[in-house]
Amino acid sequence: MIMFGDMLSPFSLLVLLFLALVSAAGGQSYSNITRGTTLTAGGSPSSWFSPSGEFAFGFFPADSNSTSFLFAVWFAATSPQSVVWYANPRSPTLPPHATVLLTSDGRLSLRDETGTERWGAGSGGAVAASILDTGNLVLAGATGVLWESFDEPTDTLLPGQVLPAGASLRSRLTDANFSEGRFSLMAQADGNLVLYPLALPTGNRYDPYWSTDTSGAGNELVYNADGSIYYSLGNGTAVPINSGLNYPPESFYQRASLDSDGVFRQYVYPKNSSAGGGLTWNVVARRPEDICHALVSHGPGSGVCGYNSYCSSDGGQNQINCICPPEYSFIDQNNTYLGCEQSFVQRCELYEQSSFTLIPVDNLDWPYQDYEHYTNVDERQCGDMCLQDCFCAVSIFWRGGRECWKKKLPLTHGRIGSYVNRRAFIKVSRDNSSVSVPVPVPVPFEGNHDRRRSIGVAGAVLLGSSGFLNLILIGTVISMIVCSRRNKSEKQRSVTELNLRTFSYKELEQATKEFKEELGRGGFGVVFKGELPSSSGSTKLVAVKRLDRLGKMIDDDSEKEFTNEVRSIGQTHHKNLVKLIGYCHEESQRLLVYEFMSRGSLQEFLFGGERPPWEQRASIAMGIARGLMYLHEECSVPIIHCDIKPKNVLLDDNLVARIADFGLAKLLRTDQTRTNTGIRGTRGYVAPEWFKSMAITKKVDVYSFGVMLLEIVSCRRNLETETETEEVAEDAVLVYWAYDCYRVGRLDLLLRDGEDDRERMERFVTVAIWCLQEDPGLRPSISAVVRMLEGGVPVAVPPDPSTDIQSLRQ
Ligand SMILES: *[C@@H]1O[C@H](CO)[C@@H](O)[C@H](O)[C@H]1NC(C)=O
Ligand SMILES: *[C@@H]1O[C@H](CO)[C@@H](O)[C@H](O)[C@H]1NC(C)=O
Ligand SMILES: *[C@@H]1O[C@H](CO)[C@@H](O)[C@H](O)[C@H]1NC(C)=O
Ligand SMILES: *[C@@H]1O[C@H](CO)[C@@H](O)[C@H](O)[C@H]1NC(C)=O
Ligand SMILES: *[C@@H]1O[C@H](CO)[C@@H](O)[C@H](O)[C@H]1NC(C)=O
Ligand SMILES: *[C@@H]1O[C@H](CO)[C@@H](O)[C@H](O)[C@H]1NC(C)=O
Ligand SMILES: *[C@@H]1O[C@H](CO)[C@@H](O)[C@H](O)[C@H]1NC(C)=O
Repeated sequence: MIMFGDMLSPFSLLVLLFLALVSAAGGQSYSNITRGTTLTAGGSPSSWFSPSGEFAFGFFPADSNSTSFLFAVWFAATSPQSVVWYANPRSPTLPPHATVLLTSDGRLSLRDETGTERWGAGSGGAVAASILDTGNLVLAGATGVLWESFDEPTDTLLPGQVLPAGASLRSRLTDANFSEGRFSLMAQADGNLVLYPLALPTGNRYDPYWSTDTSGAGNELVYNADGSIYYSLGNGTAVPINSGLNYPPESFYQRASLDSDGVFRQYVYPKNSSAGGGLTWNVVARRPEDICHALVSHGPGSGVCGYNSYCSSDGGQNQINCICPPEYSFIDQNNTYLGCEQSFVQRCELYEQSSFTLIPVDNLDWPYQDYEHYTNVDERQCGDMCLQDCFCAVSIFWRGGRECWKKKLPLTHGRIGSYVNRRAFIKVSRDNSSVSVPVPVPVPFEGNHDRRRSIGVAGAVLLGSSGFLNLILIGTVISMIVCSRRNKSEKQRSVTELNLRTFSYKELEQATKEFKEELGRGGFGVVFKGELPSSSGSTKLVAVKRLDRLGKMIDDDSEKEFTNEVRSIGQTHHKNLVKLIGYCHEESQRLLVYEFMSRGSLQEFLFGGERPPWEQRASIAMGIARGLMYLHEECSVPIIHCDIKPKNVLLDDNLVARIADFGLAKLLRTDQTRTNTGIRGTRGYVAPEWFKSMAITKKVDVYSFGVMLLEIVSCRRNLETETETEEVAEDAVLVYWAYDCYRVGRLDLLLRDGEDDRERMERFVTVAIWCLQEDPGLRPSISAVVRMLEGGVPVAVPPDPSTDIQSLRQ
């Protein structure tokens, strides 16, 4: 709505309005604000266009509900529209019904709904205010321009605009909050062009993270009308800031903005689709090249990201990610610059080393600001020293120099990237329920590779389908693995120390009402529901697994072996594993007693009825990956599961994924020493190396996890039908189909959920394809999988696993 100022009669106002509207070009109205004319936030119109229609100025909605506004200049023809200037950066948002008025004495005055002036421009004498086709908002007097927005830049420069010595750009706080942010680009009076992080709210500068290192008088930053950006030195030299002139203004809208993440980027937007690049804002230049790498300092300030978080440019330089360490979370998800806090309590007066554990993350560091420094130490010592110290939040190990640094909160200037070459040990609380567990030691750097080995012990043939057996036995010699081997010295723990109960067969017979209610049946035996009396007088539900009695193996050695293996399973404690409560070993009877999982298996959850919400599925996938990471890398004796599949993942009351049946491959091996052909695992989930004479490593679990991850994302079974025939229609095999969809860019065929979280779903699929690589060496370790799923590191385009597929199809 246009309101009239005090000097105009209603009649002359109508005439003016009419003239303005008839002068509209292409349906857009544009004009100058003359003295007495007012625009109102939320009114109609609340903005005017430049003659070309490319720029608009007026009231720009600052949120999707139009509950607040900016007085701004923006690109009107692009999608999204992009604000290039706004008034009063200290407090830019205005309520509905705010007005802007060219006063009778020729000043531009911005007033809130009560009429109080919030901001003003010019010192009087202007006869008109107008937006030019350059995006410059000018106040024109009788003799020329009296004031222009190009002289008071906010976070953006436009072609034709100059940042003279002494002037600066200031970033926004976040992309959506236009208040003064944490970074500044200054064309300093001393002739240097510098990017600084700033302290909020005062704005004092911390150590710079980029500069031209120039000096002299008269230097200025020029955004030439031809699209080039350079720093023009007083002596006539031009220091280029972007690469050149490839984006002529006739064909591209363009701007250069100091973004809220501290990067100065040049953006272009093709004016028509034939110019190429897609109808979107594309980044064509930036300074600094990699801000995560560039912005580090001994001094104060949190760095690019907030305290305790770390900076990742792995997703591409145009979207810097700030990430919380494991078991930390953002204080405010919408304002990640506020940093992360621990999701657990760490206080010295209550400190118990055994309540904490370490999560290793490669190539992560918070450089500087350490409070202890050790030399000539190994990785294990570096981790242990942090565990022993109640102040320590993180220790950083540098393998090359055998050095270790301890860090306290808050952590600053964190970054992850291949250039870092450090391993961080993040100290986190163990699950509260498992406080009595022995402390695991960190896994050595190269552990994943060194431990690959093949031990010629055979396992049971556990495959249900004869067709599949035929397939796998074609001319291959198959060696069986031992999922883990431990050294004798680690076996010296008493059963009571582990809180493992021994049960008599009779007890379990009673608990299960003589094995009445069968819960499931798997490769190792049958599982029954049971009820145990508990100390409080109530009862406790359990799952009792009666192991198949394979072979006759009742010699002393195998008995000891059984007890040892059960203890080793009993030592594992992780919130994503099903907990072993106790066991029974009487004569030839072997039974294991587990906690009862009320929500059944992932198989039923995924395929049993209605498609579960994506959020639940995603968190289940993360839980499984973390549980596997614990088995592979964090428990004192690494355990390969060998039979990862949805049936072996159970869900507890809170729908937390719990891996079941781990450690059993090892447990039963004593029964099968005579066989030399055996494949552990289940049809559809087994890694190709099972069919070849190749070493079986942890990567077999990564493969199976990849298959399951595709199932979780798509809610489809890998093998759509349980056919007995060898020939499975190719599109019924999810793995093949998923890669085909990925290759041709049609993941939408695979993912049926709404568009909401598409990026994350696609990331999960990409990670799954990495897990499905034929060459186990190409598959990521499970900890890398966890990091990729979390979004902490970029996921590269995976190689074609089709050779794998070919060999399986033969
Ligand atoms: C708007 O003001 C500019 C600068 O004062 C002037 O050149 C132009 O003719 C005016 N346009 C209209 C439509 O009044
Ligand atoms: C938008 O409006 C809805 C409904 O009035 C309200 O619930 C929501 O909080 C508003 N959002 C913002 C960002 O103001
Ligand atoms: C923007 O951030 C400032 C500072 O934290 C805050 O006071 C203001 O309310 C925020 N504005 C919006 C629109 O969220
Ligand atoms: C201008 O000054 C810069 C450094 O300040 C120097 O590198 C350059 O050579 C000078 N150019 C001329 C033409 O003197
Ligand atoms: C689109 O861009 C091309 C090349 O930049 C130009 O030749 C053509 O005239 C443009 N078309 C329109 C409709 O603007
Ligand atoms: C973040 O913003 C979204 C939408 O703007 C809102 O629904 C949500 O409540 C906000 N979260 C927090 C923690 O403020
Ligand atoms: C774990 O311990 C913390 C601190 O003692 C407590 O706040 C939290 O509720 C506990 N969590 C569980 C699951 O018991």
